[in-house]
Amino acid sequence: MLVFESPKEVQLFLKQLRGEGKVIGFVPTMGALHEGHLRLIRKARKESDVTVVSIFVNPIQFDDPGDFQRYPRTLHEDRYKLEMEGVQVLFLPSPEGMYPPGYSTFVEVENLDRYMEGAHRPGHFRGVATVVLKLFNIVKPHFAVFGLKDAQQYYIVKRMVEDLNLDLEIVPHETVREPDGLAMSSRNRLLSPESRKQATALYRALKLGKEMMFSGERDPKRIKAEMEKLLRTEAPLGKIDYIEIASLPDLQPVERVEGKVLLALAVRFPEARLIDNFILIPEDGLVWNERID
Ligand code: PAF
Repeated sequence: MLVFESPKEVQLFLKQLRGEGKVIGFVPTMGALHEGHLRLIRKARKESDVTVVSIFVNPIQFDDPGDFQRYPRTLHEDRYKLEMEGVQVLFLPSPEGMYPPGYSTFVEVENLDRYMEGAHRPGHFRGVATVVLKLFNIVKPHFAVFGLKDAQQYYIVKRMVEDLNLDLEIVPHETVREPDGLAMSSRNRLLSPESRKQATALYRALKLGKEMMFSGERDPKRIKAEMEKLLRTEAPLGKIDYIEIASLPDLQPVERVEGKVLLALAVRFPEARLIDNFILIPEDGLVWNERID
């Protein structure tokens, strides 16, 4: 595996490979790699000649400096896992390399960031869109794989790619879960044993919301109230940031459940904040991000 720290050097190297006709697949990450990331990487490996992974804990997408400090960093293990997966290129930029003195350009994807994560983490998606566009410009991949556990991020990145006429495909990957249903996340390792146990309630709350929709309930207030009750009982250590039902792909709260919707929630445990979601088509009895690969 070749490791690059300089944006210019990796850009030149990949430009040459692209010129030789190689298909470049890209998986951007913030490291602390788990099975969820490895599944994205395997998908990229299957469909590309050269798989590029970036590891960069992007400071400008953290609204809370404590969260940035605590974000797990496991570079040694990450490099080993990437070698084992047969990744050809690891891009490991520094904050100064990505944002040198005088850096002034930021990307905003309006409206789609107004609710859910966007409302609870001011500036988060501005930071995500900015770093993702920079990474796309450096790597120039033919496609990039994004996990649907971060559904709002996926739809925002897709919107940006379309709006700015970027020449790449955004490939979604289903949410990867632990056997007890908890969505895999780098932050899970921060949880105390008791919080970890209670965190499985997020998945149960989503399943309850899904069952209500599949049984014909179309009032978001009633669905959210039942999910809230479940979370309060089964995850008392968690403070609910939001439970939302939003239209897709525009990510606006709905008055009535109709068509494809995002059922999303965020819960703050003492050690870490967790998010999870289902992307549903209730009329068809489908959960999109639990089925595709
Ligand atoms: O999903 C993540 O890990 C990050 O938001 C991303 C896409 C790597 C940008 O920093």
